[in-house]
Amino acid sequence: MKASAIANANIALVKYWGKRDKELMLPQTGSISMTTEGLQAHTTVEFDSKYQDDILIVGGKEFKKGDEEYDDYVGQFLKVVREKFPDKVGDLKVKIVSNNNFPTAAGLASSAAGFAALAAAVNEALKLGLDDKELSMLARRGSGSATRSIHAGFVEWHRGEKEDGSDCYAEQLFPPEHWPELRMVVAVTSKKDKKIKSRAGMKQSVATSPYYKVWRDEVVPKHIEIIKKALAEKDFKVLGETAEANALMMHAVAIATTPPVIYWNAGTMDIIHAVMDWRDEGLECFFTIDGGPQVKVLCLEKDSDEIARRLREFENIEDVIITKPGSGVRITDEHLF
Ligand code: DP6
Repeated sequence: MKASAIANANIALVKYWGKRDKELMLPQTGSISMTTEGLQAHTTVEFDSKYQDDILIVGGKEFKKGDEEYDDYVGQFLKVVREKFPDKVGDLKVKIVSNNNFPTAAGLASSAAGFAALAAAVNEALKLGLDDKELSMLARRGSGSATRSIHAGFVEWHRGEKEDGSDCYAEQLFPPEHWPELRMVVAVTSKKDKKIKSRAGMKQSVATSPYYKVWRDEVVPKHIEIIKKALAEKDFKVLGETAEANALMMHAVAIATTPPVIYWNAGTMDIIHAVMDWRDEGLECFFTIDGGPQVKVLCLEKDSDEIARRLREFENIEDVIITKPGSGVRITDEHLF
């Protein structure tokens, strides 16, 4: 009862910011993302009677029951798996080992890749027989954005209407081959863990941001329609303008939260201004930012090396990674233990 899976992170073009049901992890709105090749989580799970307790090791560090990191994330996810599939799990404990090839918890969608890989590995190890849609629903119970990392390419996470969450899942809009020239150049401005997790930040925004209602009822529904059309027509300008506006509006909602949720650092601001200047000079590029200080620059392949070169010249940038539309989750024979 051992299996391993690899999943890529994803970067949202229309952001998910807020839940309507915390237990079932149902979002307030739909969202759209690009799965990014190369920002990977690799996870091995083994359910076995030889384990006295669940064991979790991420990036070489062990997490235990009682740690917030464990209880609110993997602990909660395992509880869901045990409640949903009692016949398959029985009273077996599980060992989980996971590694990312990028900084965790710094706004690089580490939980998305991690839970997509974990859900797929659990599905395989326990022979649950879930299809991709069901797998996206299981991954959602670990972290909302993980629901999108199950699929390759361009992905829509449906908000759904039902209270039980049975219509809340992710689906592929287009495969990576639809627009293989698209690039996200990730500028890592800090590798430190962020102070406010997305989960806590979005909860506060729903509760206190005066802009939340307009974000949920007007901004996101409009942006979903525009981005879907821009993807279908491969209209880079409209895609970039809308994704950038969406990110800024999400951060406006977050900044207006009490207490304020501000993810940007000085490096983030420098790149925002640089991208706008480069655009004025005729270099086609747009930025997006998630729950952390990193900036992702959306561009086309023809400009990606030049943009990466310019980003590397900034003093306060720790790393620059070029990513493209990537593959969905997959099972691998390479076990981590
Ligand atoms: C800003 O999926 O990490 O990256 O569901 O609470 O685990 P939880 O939150 P998470 O939030 C991601 C927020 C975001 C936008 C996005 O990826 O859509």
